[in-house]
Amino acid sequence: MTKISANTKICMVIGNPVKHSLSPQMHNAGYRALGLDGQFVYVACQVHKDSMEDFVKGVRTMGIRGVSCTVPHKTKIIPYLNEIDPIAEKIGAVNTVVNDGGFLRGFNTDYLGVINPLLEVTSLQGKKVALIGAGGAARGALYGLIEAGAEVWIFNRTLEKAEALAKLIGGEAFSPDYSWRLSKADIIINATTVGMESDETPVPKALLHEEQIVFDTVYNQHRTRLLRDAKAAGAKVIYGIEMLLHQGVAQFKHYTGLDAPVNAMRNALQKHIK
Ligand code: ATR
Repeated sequence: MTKISANTKICMVIGNPVKHSLSPQMHNAGYRALGLDGQFVYVACQVHKDSMEDFVKGVRTMGIRGVSCTVPHKTKIIPYLNEIDPIAEKIGAVNTVVNDGGFLRGFNTDYLGVINPLLEVTSLQGKKVALIGAGGAARGALYGLIEAGAEVWIFNRTLEKAEALAKLIGGEAFSPDYSWRLSKADIIINATTVGMESDETPVPKALLHEEQIVFDTVYNQHRTRLLRDAKAAGAKVIYGIEMLLHQGVAQFKHYTGLDAPVNAMRNALQKHIK
């Protein structure tokens, strides 16, 4: 029997497209595990990028409690907020909006989605981290890695984008011609979209070895080629759902004020990933 009532607070993820999002399953599983499923409900809404002003009016009018933003809204929503957290400002993207009586605050929890799974297995201070990619996912990751004291090498197909990111946030940019350096990295993070739609990998197998930690932020495929190769080489692997999970865990706290039930949320994701 549903516990939803007139007092239930609504949270949602917006994106375009959004129908493949696993955030509703993850957050609702968290609410259920804590017995909050009458107090909160989490849904998904497809919102066109040109409708952001109307959407934000709706959030204030209807008292939507929390809004998680995915592509292409992480930058588009910023001008409509009352306040933006300094970290989200530095990263230049908001993935979490909290509504307190019409006052909208924007945060970024994406960087925690990369940093926290790594911190569970290693320290980052002084570690050599090869970050592959220079798009939205790489940007948050880079911020977190630099803050945690890592030495970051950014590799990107388009070198100029890696250079721009290094200038803005930190780290050193390399073109893929220097990919031999990947074998010298303690940690390799794939923050490109390679492996999402095809069985490709951004890292030649021969550069992987057992002293490394390899983290693939691709999560729609569970065992990506990169992670299969890394496992075969004896490296420690971190699956993409950990990123989705940990950014969601931090959002859960913003929306409910409570510590998230991490295992219940992880189980919900695992059920839905190939
Ligand atoms: P996201 O927000 O998921 O990071 P994005 O901003 O579109 O998505 O960035 C995609 C990243 O994947 C970029 O670093 C892109 O490299 P370019 O900057 O050169 O475009 C990288 N990428 C996508 N397809 C790739 C491919 N086939 N080979 C190498 N890198 C690729």
